[in-house]
Amino acid sequence: MRFKVLLLNVIAALSFVIAQRNSEPIIRTDLGAIKGTTLETRLGQRFFAFRGIRYANPPTGRLRFRAPDPVLPWEGVFDATDDGPMCIQPAFNRSEASEDCLRLNVYTKSMSNKGSGACRKDVIVYIHPGGFYVFSGQSRNNAGPQYLMDQDIVLVTINYRLGALGYMSTGTADCPGNMGFKDQVVALKWVRDHIHRFGGNADSVTLMGYSAGAVSAALHMISPMSKGLFHRAIVMSTSPTGALKFSSGQLQLAQKQAQLLGCEVSPTAKMIDCLREKPPMDFADSLQAMFVIGWYPTLLWQPVIEPDFGQERFLDRDPTEAFLKGDFMRVPVIAGITKDEFASSAIDFLTNETLRNELNQNFNSFAPLLFSYITSPDANRITPLLRMKYLGEGPVTLNRSLQGLNDLFSDSHIGFPIHRFVQLASRFTKVYQYKFTYQGRYSYLYYPDDRTPYGVVHHDDLLYLFVIPHITAIFNSTDPENKMVEKLTGMWAAFAKHGNPNRADLIPKPNWVPVKRNEDNYLEIGEQLTPRKGLFTERFSFWDQLFPVPNIE
Ligand SMILES: *[C@@H]1O[C@H](CO)[C@@H](O)[C@H](O)[C@H]1NC(C)=O
Ligand SMILES: *[C@@H]1O[C@H](CO)[C@@H](O)[C@H](O)[C@H]1NC(C)=O
Ligand SMILES: *[C@@H]1O[C@H](CO)[C@@H](O)[C@H](O)[C@H]1NC(C)=O
Ligand SMILES: *[C@@H]1O[C@H](CO)[C@@H](O)[C@H](O)[C@H]1NC(C)=O
Repeated sequence: MRFKVLLLNVIAALSFVIAQRNSEPIIRTDLGAIKGTTLETRLGQRFFAFRGIRYANPPTGRLRFRAPDPVLPWEGVFDATDDGPMCIQPAFNRSEASEDCLRLNVYTKSMSNKGSGACRKDVIVYIHPGGFYVFSGQSRNNAGPQYLMDQDIVLVTINYRLGALGYMSTGTADCPGNMGFKDQVVALKWVRDHIHRFGGNADSVTLMGYSAGAVSAALHMISPMSKGLFHRAIVMSTSPTGALKFSSGQLQLAQKQAQLLGCEVSPTAKMIDCLREKPPMDFADSLQAMFVIGWYPTLLWQPVIEPDFGQERFLDRDPTEAFLKGDFMRVPVIAGITKDEFASSAIDFLTNETLRNELNQNFNSFAPLLFSYITSPDANRITPLLRMKYLGEGPVTLNRSLQGLNDLFSDSHIGFPIHRFVQLASRFTKVYQYKFTYQGRYSYLYYPDDRTPYGVVHHDDLLYLFVIPHITAIFNSTDPENKMVEKLTGMWAAFAKHGNPNRADLIPKPNWVPVKRNEDNYLEIGEQLTPRKGLFTERFSFWDQLFPVPNIE
């Protein structure tokens, strides 16, 4: 009996990989055949890459501003030998952006489909950052797979709609919002249904998100649409549990977009119809004008708590309350921040005379928007407290205020949201917290000259998980950054496999203690891996007091 099952599986395995000549593998899925290519990892292992696989129909015409339409089976062979388009955004190369962007990439070392779940590899699904308005999961631009593919996993990176096209919401049935999140759900369902053909185990999926992607990953933990679609979560550099409360719609912002594109703003249904007619790049071209000051508020288009219009809702309750009550998918979590996160915003504001003057003259009116508590009924009381704590008295200047403003931007947008998420979630599930302090030779921010990394800022830790060519060429085994690539990919893969990063194949083994009640444990990921307690305790407890949550001890 066993033998027969095995034999059947071998025959099945053979029939899924139809052809594999000239390094162009063709794989058969229930939807149709897909042709990929082979690439090489950092350490020179060959792996298969299927890029730009369409998981939903292009959301164009009548489908624009609507929930995604999962792809239907196709005839012939889908060409997945190179990156697909990125979603509409202010792209460096405009012809690389398209509304036909609902694509995902699958990377795998072995597609042999023998045996059942246990033989298949753990899957990591990556949701890219970019404030819900830029970037992609493309291999060449933002998410080169050559580091993670040295680990024993299957990697999937996904695109989702961005900006107005992904997140416009009117608070009415015309456009309930959260389209980009619903795209992510369809991609996760694609993984559930098809990843076994690529050697992946659909019963062991780790959702990893960075920044806007981390907001996404944490929201999937509470979304009624995402139940059971993943089994672990890695939430890097922010979460949806900060001081900002999400609303049920952003009608005024939608109207601002309509005005910029020459559409009448009412009735709402007519406005949306008009916006459906506009060329897609008009949305990218008007993006900068949508912001209030500089690129602020950072979260322009936001997740919305959808009223019930009979649609399937992605988000139906307040995230902080859901995590507080334990009303979420209690999967094991890794969550953390970098040492200096939002330094670039501080430098932008302090080195630009216009912006610096705004800070000095209109601090009280801009602060709730800049530091993401504009929805707080206590904003007027909170603003002078934050100012005194982080900036002290006297005018804001580059020399005096850089560290303070850096900390204020970082804590408001990244640190406090992660802190609260970790505090709430760890009461119900295992949470491994980190602070990333390793400074390599490359960074997203060089200052004061253009060769010196300022510190360890937002996205700098991603340089050791993904190849990001516009920051640095791929690290090889003699580069000093090599050790960090091995540590980070090793711990992340062990977590994907066992739900425990301590099982990484590293010498010495990490000693990463989960957060406990009244024990704010974290791992400092620097030159060494060092277990510590109390992550920016003094700063974050200030935020805890400003934005209290009931019934938490
Ligand atoms: C822009 O992208 C298109 C499509 O991928 C490509 O053919 C073209 O070479 C690119 N142009 C530049 C300047 O990179
Ligand atoms: C300063 O900021 C303003 C407002 O965002 C912007 O319009 C201007 O271009 C910036 N100036 C410089 C030199 O970057
Ligand atoms: C800022 O500090 C540097 C050195 O600490 C000094 O050379 C410079 O004159 C200061 N600039 C201002 C505007 O105070
Ligand atoms: C690694 O890359 C560096 C450049 O960063 C190069 O000088 C060195 O020769 C490379 N080493 C190997 C083993 O390829």
